[in-house]
Amino acid sequence: MTNAAIARCNDICLSVLPPLEGEVHVWLIPTNVQMCSHLEAAAAAFSLEERERADSYIFERDRRRFVRSHAWLRSIIARYLRAPPDAVRFRRGPSGKPRLPDPAPLNFNLAHAGELGAIAVSHHSREVGIDLETEPTSADIRTLTRAVLGSAAVAAVAALPAGDQMRTVLRAWTLKESLLKAGGYGLSRPPSEIEVTLEGLKPTIINAPGGRAEIDRWWVRDLAVPAPYVGTLMVEKREDVSPPYVRGFGY
Ligand SMILES: CC(C)(COP(=O)(O)OP(=O)(O)OC[C@H]1O[C@@H](n2cnc3c(N)ncnc32)[C@H](O)[C@@H]1OP(=O)(O)O)[C@@H](O)C(=O)NCCC(=O)NCCS
Repeated sequence: MTNAAIARCNDICLSVLPPLEGEVHVWLIPTNVQMCSHLEAAAAAFSLEERERADSYIFERDRRRFVRSHAWLRSIIARYLRAPPDAVRFRRGPSGKPRLPDPAPLNFNLAHAGELGAIAVSHHSREVGIDLETEPTSADIRTLTRAVLGSAAVAAVAALPAGDQMRTVLRAWTLKESLLKAGGYGLSRPPSEIEVTLEGLKPTIINAPGGRAEIDRWWVRDLAVPAPYVGTLMVEKREDVSPPYVRGFGY
């Protein structure tokens, strides 16, 4: 990492204010670069669970990604709370969604794929879910389509321009995952319970475990992420007529 990049990392780590009610902050973070001093401090403040999870990875790339993304998470949350990184405590909701202890001043959600992480932070009044995917190294498009959209969608995907096929399936995947993560269901609900239709290039959720009410509960935003990544953000609706303002951070 260059001196300029470390300075930029330090700058970002120092400069955050918590999201307002109508705002969501999305942090895009590279997980393959050296850490600045703030991230080192956050990693040094990991809980026992975080340390054990970091140590459990077999491959160095996976361990590094876990450490980087969790250091960013702890560092960002600490800045929002105006607390040192070792004062941040995480807990899990009923189906495993990481949260701050009640009364939580913020909601957040983390995703990572390849060498990119994404952290969404919202005001405590709204749940948030984020998912990020990249082209899998080992699955062909037909296998992936079957896994994400079901066998009936294979022909529809094959009919799309070749350059759009993978992105469309990944978009459908992130739609499902971000809804599961926003609602905090995690692995307690199979993604197959969420039905996505392909309307042209725009995958859309048409069925979910809670029916129409669950679908209507969320504002859905495509994330502006560099190819080959695809990401989706879901933010809980309130009385609002327009979606929350999404502020992007990253370096
Ligand atoms: C647990 C799950 C949230 C992980 O999703 P994932 O896409 O593998 O991984 P992501 O990087 O997007 O998200 C992982 C992060 O989500 C968060 N998370 C964990 N459980 C969560 C839950 N119940 N709700 C919301 N967020 C959760 C954590 O911060 C986790 O990060 P960590 O593992 O570093 O602590 C879950 O939805 C899952 O494993 N789904 C896979 C299902 C599948 O097979 N999908 C294929 C086709 S649709």
